[in-house]
Amino acid sequence: MQNIEDVRSDLLSRIATSDNPRDLLKVAELKQLMGAITTLPAAERGAYGKKVNELKIALEAAVEARETAIEDSSVEPLDVTAPFDINAEKVSLLPTEQGSQHPLTTELENVVDIFTRMGFEAIESRQIDDDKHMFGTLNFHENHPARDGYDTFRTEEDFIPPAHTSTMQNRILLAGRDKLEAGGQIAAISYGRVFRNEDVDATHEHTFYQCEGVFVSKNATLGQMLGTLRSFFETYYGQKLKIKTQPAYFPFVEPGLEFAIEKPAALGGKPGEWLEMLGCGMIHPNVLKAADIDPNKYTGFAWGGGIERLVMLKYGIEDLRHFESGKLQFLRKF
Ligand code: PHE
Repeated sequence: MQNIEDVRSDLLSRIATSDNPRDLLKVAELKQLMGAITTLPAAERGAYGKKVNELKIALEAAVEARETAIEDSSVEPLDVTAPFDINAEKVSLLPTEQGSQHPLTTELENVVDIFTRMGFEAIESRQIDDDKHMFGTLNFHENHPARDGYDTFRTEEDFIPPAHTSTMQNRILLAGRDKLEAGGQIAAISYGRVFRNEDVDATHEHTFYQCEGVFVSKNATLGQMLGTLRSFFETYYGQKLKIKTQPAYFPFVEPGLEFAIEKPAALGGKPGEWLEMLGCGMIHPNVLKAADIDPNKYTGFAWGGGIERLVMLKYGIEDLRHFESGKLQFLRKF
């Protein structure tokens, strides 16, 4: 037992300063300790085995901590006082290979790309907005209880960092009204950051990304919407999917639905495991009227959902907080 303690303190101090800490898990002293168990009387083996096991766990944790420390220190500090010389072998600005695009940005670009190829115009959403676009033009009257469901932040001046990309609906409709009158249709998506006053955990963030779609024509139907969404999801995940909807309430659509896909077996899903992906529905007549579009002449559908959820399923990421953590170990996997 004393021997175990000696090896523990010796290895822990060596791991703490080693450049290759993992190699120290293979040293002869450790192998001897493990082998020694067979030479002990049966009555002592249990206690001894437990001690050796504890030692292994402690050493593994120390190796991981040391590896993280080595990784963190391998980013060279930037000399901000050095003069900039484009011809210098090492310039004082961060060389491009030290950075890469964030996985969420890459995936958002994928999403936008798929809808663009389907004929939707893409518009970035605003990051500061107002009550009119967050609620007013979306058929939430002033004391509408559904306002509470959006946990909105507000500035002292009464601006709102949008809690969903639906804030762009009224702008998309107003901008497209002429196209409708000329016999065309409105087909646009808006995407961007949204904000909610939420307690952060593995599935909730205060800041996340959404993508919204709006389609209006003389005879837009729910069937077209489901076809559009199916085709998006099947393209994004590169496989056929089972889909279903269930009723849901949003003041700005009627009927309103939640759209779910069955988690594909290739991504670890079991049959009957449904994942709710977004909210959608037929645009409420009051929302069309708020943009001066006659609901008796035109119908439309809209949907909106989070980007993180899509990406988490695609890559099997279990905790939403990884995205904003700034951890290189996580980011380098992409
Ligand atoms: N804006 C809704 C949300 O964030 C989603 C939604 C968009 C629902 C469009 C219906 C139509 O919860």
